[in-house]
Amino acid sequence: METNPSPLRLHVQLGERSYPILIGSGVLSSASEHLRALQPSQVVLVTHPRLAEWYGEPLRHSLEQEGIPAYMLTVPPGERTKRWEVVGRLLRQMAQLALDRRCIVVALGGGVIGDLAGFVAACYLRGVRYVQIPTTLLAQVDSSVGGKTGVNLPEGKNLVGAFHQPVLVLIDTDTLKTLSRRHFRAGLAEVLKYGIIADETLWRLVNAEANSLRQCHSTHLAEIIYRCCEIKANIVSEDETEQGVRAILNFGHTVGHALEAVAGYGRLLHGEAVSIGMVSAALVGEATGVTPAGTAEEIARALRALGLPVALPRDVEFDGLLAVMARDKKARDGQVRFVLIERIGQARLPVAVNEKEVLHALMMHRERFHREAMSWKTVGQS
Ligand SMILES: NC(=O)c1ccc[n+]([C@@H]2O[C@H](COP(=O)([O-])OP(=O)(O)OC[C@H]3O[C@@H](n4cnc5c(N)ncnc54)[C@H](O)[C@@H]3O)[C@@H](O)[C@H]2O)c1
Repeated sequence: METNPSPLRLHVQLGERSYPILIGSGVLSSASEHLRALQPSQVVLVTHPRLAEWYGEPLRHSLEQEGIPAYMLTVPPGERTKRWEVVGRLLRQMAQLALDRRCIVVALGGGVIGDLAGFVAACYLRGVRYVQIPTTLLAQVDSSVGGKTGVNLPEGKNLVGAFHQPVLVLIDTDTLKTLSRRHFRAGLAEVLKYGIIADETLWRLVNAEANSLRQCHSTHLAEIIYRCCEIKANIVSEDETEQGVRAILNFGHTVGHALEAVAGYGRLLHGEAVSIGMVSAALVGEATGVTPAGTAEEIARALRALGLPVALPRDVEFDGLLAVMARDKKARDGQVRFVLIERIGQARLPVAVNEKEVLHALMMHRERFHREAMSWKTVGQS
């Protein structure tokens, strides 16, 4: 029988809220053992119907075989599921199952499931434990680590939430085999982001592996995910609630979030928006003299090689984009703030940038990359 190599392991150091992250191929097959070790009274798996069938049912079955009552709650896929009404529905279902304080919620899915199920765990009985089993690349390298949970309101994205750390994160790289290419590539934008803000070696590795990664595989995948989680874990250990250094993780997000909002959530994937936003941020850095000239082009080349969009969509209007940026929850007194990079591998804490400079950078962005610009309708399809 083929055996899986031992998973890579690291720790998020947060005192009594510390937790391990296990990364590797086949990790899911030992998930029931890891869960049993946490001695839950019951386990409730929150996931999407397709993921329930592929990954959830085998896990539920092995938990039951170990004598742990296990239930599956499914919600439809998509960003729209991350909303208040769905939280209420899940909480009521959990109450009807008479889950007690020792139960464990398992978030089995991408960032939508992680944020939603994590928030439900933060609220149920004033907080129960939860385990992240992320199944998208974005969730494996980013959203499953760090304890940010929450849902959207009609008034804006992620406006309600809680910091609630998981007790364990299990990352099975095999689950990525069923993920769509588009979602895989969107996750690569966040991977490259870690290299740009904190780790030149990771940047070089991702560039060297670009051909395979673009095709959604790499013999270095577990190592790459490990390195991303390690960077995030270190940052979160230092600054759990984003009072300081954690903000550098938002590189590319000022323009990225605004693009997502202007396009209408769901049209442009988060990673695609961040990909374009990182080029804008590098241009803002170049314009303000923080970032060496030519860095934006270097970043764009790397993103392109991973199959990601780099140009501002053709039909985007700068006025609309600037208005959303000024309203962003990370803006202060209406001043737009950017994480800038001093060089590849080194980011600076967010700084306020005046509107004129932002506008100038956006115009440069449009001008330099106009040949590859797409409209909203075609962005992400390649
Ligand atoms: N909490 C955080 O720190 C944090 C950080 C970044 C992003 N987020 C949030 O993450 C969300 C985006 O997450 P996402 O990009 O993972 O999207 P997602 O959760 O919507 O997943 C994308 C799609 O892939 C499907 N899917 C998931 N795993 C699969 C698999 N293994 N095989 C086949 N299909 C699979 C899902 O059903 C869904 O249709 C956003 O809501 C964003 O706000 C949170």
